Amino acid sequence: MKRSEVNAIIRESDKFIRSFGYVMPPFAYWSPEELKTRTSSDSKAILDARLGWDITDYGQGKFDELGLFLFTTRNGNQEDLKKGGGMLYAEKIMISREKQLSPMHRHIVKAEDIINRGGGTLVLELFNSNADGSVDEKTDVEVATDGRIVRQKAGGLLKLQPGESVTLLPGNWHAFWGEGGDVLIGEVSTVNDDLTDNIFREPIGRFSSIEEDEAPVHLLVSDYDKWLA
Ligand SMILES: [Fe+2]
Repeated sequence: MKRSEVNAIIRESDKFIRSFGYVMPPFAYWSPEELKTRTSSDSKAILDARLGWDITDYGQGKFDELGLFLFTTRNGNQEDLKKGGGMLYAEKIMISREKQLSPMHRHIVKAEDIINRGGGTLVLELFNSNADGSVDEKTDVEVATDGRIVRQKAGGLLKLQPGESVTLLPGNWHAFWGEGGDVLIGEVSTVNDDLTDNIFREPIGRFSSIEEDEAPVHLLVSDYDKWLA
């Protein structure tokens, strides 16, 4: 993706998120220079937890069809997870645009509640895992949606209206997209490690590769290693 495209998506997404009365934390609006200065003094936790902007086209260069906007607002740590106590949770705000696919994937560690916070209908395609972790094309899928267990055929579509949510457990294969409009999505989950905990059905990347054609408005989490070194 071009940096100019990433900058435009940041501006549009911020406007869309604010239209629902949700405002992102102050560090969302730091310039790259401010982020660099502050993360080298009192705000190193932002880097350690990999908080911030995350715009991905899954490395395929067609964001409108295959992509997702995410912002990680909080994230616990792996040490607490090993101990079994402490900050074991994470939160993201995301936007799935109308007909914009987030491709079929599962997680090894993370359980996640995916919440339609407003806009269009959020459609999720769901499968179980086989014993070897691959997509189980046969067995019915059972998931909890707001305290109610829903059972549907393998590959069935679960449609969430604003206010509705689903709990996806490790091993639940899922792909999702917006229908009838762009969708503001909340994610509340187990501690999140996007470097290791996303298994995609098709060979695909998790992050965008960026072509620098203008200066970044804000850095993406995937820029941190290079830009803040
Ligand atoms: Fe997921």
